[in-house]
Amino acid sequence: MQDIKNPRTYRVKSFGCQMNVYDGERMAELLSAQGIAPAADGQDADLVVLNTCHIRERAAEKVYSDIGRLKRDDGTTPLIAVAGCVAQAEGEEIMTRAPSVKMVVGPQAYHRLPEMIRAASAGERVTDTDMPAQTKFDVLPRRRRSGPTAFLTVQEGCDKFCTYCVVPYTRGAEFSRPYAALVDEAQRLVEAGAREITLLGQNVNAWAGENAAGQRVGLERLIRELACIPVLARIRYTTSHPNDMTQGLIDAHGEIDALMPFLHLPVQAGSDRVLKAMNRSHTVESYLAILERVRAVRPDIALSGDFIVGFPGETEADFQQTLQLVDAVGYAQCFSFTYSPRPGTPAATMGDQVPGDVMADRLQRLQAAINRNQHAFNAASVGKVCDVLVERRGKLAGQWLGKSPWLQSVHFLGDAQIGDLVRVEIVSAGPNSLAGVPIAAQPSRAQSSAAA
Ligand code: SAH
Ligand code: SF4
Ligand code: F3S
Repeated sequence: MQDIKNPRTYRVKSFGCQMNVYDGERMAELLSAQGIAPAADGQDADLVVLNTCHIRERAAEKVYSDIGRLKRDDGTTPLIAVAGCVAQAEGEEIMTRAPSVKMVVGPQAYHRLPEMIRAASAGERVTDTDMPAQTKFDVLPRRRRSGPTAFLTVQEGCDKFCTYCVVPYTRGAEFSRPYAALVDEAQRLVEAGAREITLLGQNVNAWAGENAAGQRVGLERLIRELACIPVLARIRYTTSHPNDMTQGLIDAHGEIDALMPFLHLPVQAGSDRVLKAMNRSHTVESYLAILERVRAVRPDIALSGDFIVGFPGETEADFQQTLQLVDAVGYAQCFSFTYSPRPGTPAATMGDQVPGDVMADRLQRLQAAINRNQHAFNAASVGKVCDVLVERRGKLAGQWLGKSPWLQSVHFLGDAQIGDLVRVEIVSAGPNSLAGVPIAAQPSRAQSSAAA
């Protein structure tokens, strides 16, 4: 039974990648602009948006259990919208399997939520998984709120078609947002309190646009422009594809102070045979050559990657090459996953699927290697002096938590506010975080921020 019409409160729950987090924020802003208020912590919301991820099987299955859990003690349900990549991939199935879902909206159509809510309030069940020519970005409300760190989607979609991956189907073709719109959104985020912006894209380094002078430019020029925004202290970007790692972008790491020394460059596997079957269109050698060029201009760069173990046909010898690659690179951090066959992707029907227990064992060994590398990277930070961008209070009195330039979590005791850049000396390192001690200088504060 569903008894909510014309919702007055909402909650948006986002799963999956950072782009979904960004989309979730934009949906929240859109709903707020409609006069619907965010539900207070612990309170039932009239409208719940589940912003879903389809990348691996477990992520997709989670949606159905989440829908079930939204049922209240009195048997009623909120107005439920399923958004995100599961909505795009399995919209019809959701509508059949989950009668309590009234709206299904894909990642490129969520700007139409207000009309959908009106229709759902009138008793209809509505699906919108269009990928319209007019983009959501043209009609979403302007950014008004931001914490010290903000996401900014600059590019969406993927034309690479790795054989295991759903993203080209759920997010559509590669699309770059226009230069001027991005500079404008970045400025607004900074006015709203952001001191760090992470530029997002499924292949962020494939971003291309035209600058004010009408010249065709790549991501490094956009970064250069954003680096001129006063108060914006830090710029990051993710996720990059090795094939779009231009020399211009590499050089930017040596030239732009605000561009943080961190590069997330997924490789997926350490065996050329597996990379070929994955349709990655790069080799281990070409990948390592890129990292070498980045290290040449920015020797302290922190490197990060994604790995899939147990891709169809992966042998123990292939997997050993992945372990060797991890040690050869010396990653600061990594994400690693067991291969998950996704419906409609070429790899799902390949022969030689690797048994689950073999995959689980490889994942464990890979994660041990990754953790060892991460710990070594952290240990090498002891004695360094760096700025920490303060994101929140710690558990102890006077304790603050933030990030180093290399994206490590750092905690310290001292005088600070959220959004400060505090200079610390790193005094000890654990596997997942560092301890710092502030050194003499006053914290750098965002004096000219409109939000201050
Ligand atoms: N565009 C990015 C990453 C997109 S998805 C890139 O090309 O690197 C994020 C990560 O999820 C991928 O890097 C990959 O490691 C993992 N992934 C994607 N599809 C997967 C699948 N079917 N099974 C397991 N992991 C997967
Ligand atoms: Fe998926 Fe490959 Fe595209 Fe990344 S590059 S989103 S892994 S298809
Ligand atoms: Fe998941 Fe879609 Fe992101 S499948 S990882 S939410 S692009």
